[in-house]
Amino acid sequence: MWCSWGRWGLRGLRGVTPSRAAVGALHYDIRSSYIPFDTIVNERRSQAKKSLLVQVNSEKSFPELHSYCSQFGTVLGVHHYTTSNSHHFMLVEFSTEENVSNLLASTTFIQDSDVIPVQSKFLWFRPQNNELRSNIRNIINFSETNDVNKLHVKNACVIPAENLILRNLLQANSISEQIQMLYDMTCLKDLGTRLRYVTARQVESALNGLFPNATVCPFGSSVNGFGKMGCDLDLVVKFTSEDLANNLRSRLVFHTKKSTLTGRTQQQRYMEIISDMIQFFLPGCSHVRKILQARIPIIKFNQDYAGLDCDLSISSTSGLYMSELLYLYGNIDSRVRPLVFTIRKWAKHVALTNASPGKWITNFPLTLMVLFFLQNATDGAILPSFNYLRKHAGESDMRLTDDRVNCSFLRDIKDMKFISQNDSDLKELLHQFFEFYCSFDFSTQALSINEGRAIKKPDYAALYIINPLQINLNVSKNVSYEECERMKIEFRNAAWYLESVSETGNEKESWGLGVLLKEKSSSLKNKFVDYHRIVQVKDLFMNEKKELNDGDKFEKDIHKNKVNNNQIHDDVIEQIDSEISLKTVQNVNIDTEQSQFLSSENVQTRGRKVKRR
Ligand code: CTP
Ligand code: MG
Repeated sequence: MWCSWGRWGLRGLRGVTPSRAAVGALHYDIRSSYIPFDTIVNERRSQAKKSLLVQVNSEKSFPELHSYCSQFGTVLGVHHYTTSNSHHFMLVEFSTEENVSNLLASTTFIQDSDVIPVQSKFLWFRPQNNELRSNIRNIINFSETNDVNKLHVKNACVIPAENLILRNLLQANSISEQIQMLYDMTCLKDLGTRLRYVTARQVESALNGLFPNATVCPFGSSVNGFGKMGCDLDLVVKFTSEDLANNLRSRLVFHTKKSTLTGRTQQQRYMEIISDMIQFFLPGCSHVRKILQARIPIIKFNQDYAGLDCDLSISSTSGLYMSELLYLYGNIDSRVRPLVFTIRKWAKHVALTNASPGKWITNFPLTLMVLFFLQNATDGAILPSFNYLRKHAGESDMRLTDDRVNCSFLRDIKDMKFISQNDSDLKELLHQFFEFYCSFDFSTQALSINEGRAIKKPDYAALYIINPLQINLNVSKNVSYEECERMKIEFRNAAWYLESVSETGNEKESWGLGVLLKEKSSSLKNKFVDYHRIVQVKDLFMNEKKELNDGDKFEKDIHKNKVNNNQIHDDVIEQIDSEISLKTVQNVNIDTEQSQFLSSENVQTRGRKVKRR
């Protein structure tokens, strides 16, 4: 069997690629099973409201836990997983929220301890004493529920080890099949998504005491269909509900307080309060770090019980709509996601992407590069332009963010007229992707998803990818010339490899994708490696007067007509700042006077002025 991760409950729910069926088939259109983003989000949020996370002794606790929970209502499913420190958890889903409320009403706190008695849906299942045991036995008929098969999934959330992935790839029949397998093995599964929504709900419930209308929504790769197992959880808090504000019929209006703080400072103060709340009161939340001086303040924290690294912001919601747009593109054609996954994995392997923020490309703009290529694929467009989606937006598709970004576009693609005639398989597309960018003129051209074609670059950024929702912004503004060069070298290497590789191999030796993801990058062996990641975040703050290091000098030489030394330094600050300021939402215009940077790890402030350009 080549794929032990292949079938997951979420498939049905989110209309994901039917895994192997698509490979080699002429029809890659998966729109007939499309479920709109809002429907999925609402379904997931509702699931989270009906779910509890319970720490247990082991998966053997299942029958007892199931029986115990069944006193309070119908248990729809129990999902088991272990965290990295080998703690066992079960996510229990009930059929109604009322069931959960009943259970919580009879849940207790540890006695005689100095903990703060916060109520949440993160519980632990303690061993019962004899008296309790006999009481419970009277209530519950164990034989009815003592059926281990009812455990929905056992030890889910285990991220497949690299060598296991490569071993599995050996068993495919073609490179296209390998690409599909890679996607099947590594994509975010149902339980991973559930845990992300449960974590969002934990913060949301904590806020709801004071802000009953506040919502906390996952965005980014957790929800856009391009998330792999173990990806970070991006969260955004929305305090207002438009429906409520527009309720003109109500004669009663809440008394509220005027905010005396404005804009950014206000946001930072609110973030401080939220971060303290997460740190002091929310079970399982640890390593809370405030990065409030960044352009878009964020709070980083870990949710240990769910095994997640989270980034929370309270700014604009356009990141949410961007996630919806990516989700939509991923659902137009079954080849999109496997291709994006493979390219993201390859980019990580050749060190084009990197977990820490810096001058290099990140997964989000890289994904846009794949989408752009698919709009311009050699044998015909596989994806329509964003302008096409804008043009076909109906009345119900209109959306405007709080900061007035127009996020209207066609949302239900089921009846979309665009049909691709391109029947290239995944291997061909992967090869064409690399070739396409080998010959792309990055020096004068910008990638416009909106137009679905390249347009003239509006400034000197090394890589210019227009933010489809805010066309005056470049989502890859942080990428340096040096990194862009490296990217081109890697594209060439990969194109060359795919040109010469044989289509099949045996089960003993690496072949096809296995080699592409195993071979060390040649550009890492050459001089570029000396300049790669040469500026470390910590270096930037060691000594402001520090001489430019070799890497800076190298870059300076390349661009001496364009920038001066300080600007190189400032670029880096700004780029890292922009990364840290989360993904979010966009490369908003910088309030340069206030541009300060906090190292995400050290959280030390160091104000410095950045030149206005
Ligand atoms: N985003 C955006 N504009 C940017 C950067 C990010 O709109 N300039 C939004 C996108 O919706 C993106 C999300 O913020 O998906 C989260 O960004 P990030 O975490 O960097 O990317 P992910 O897509 O989540 O990918 P990864 O798995 O690497 O976290
Ligand atoms: Mg992310």
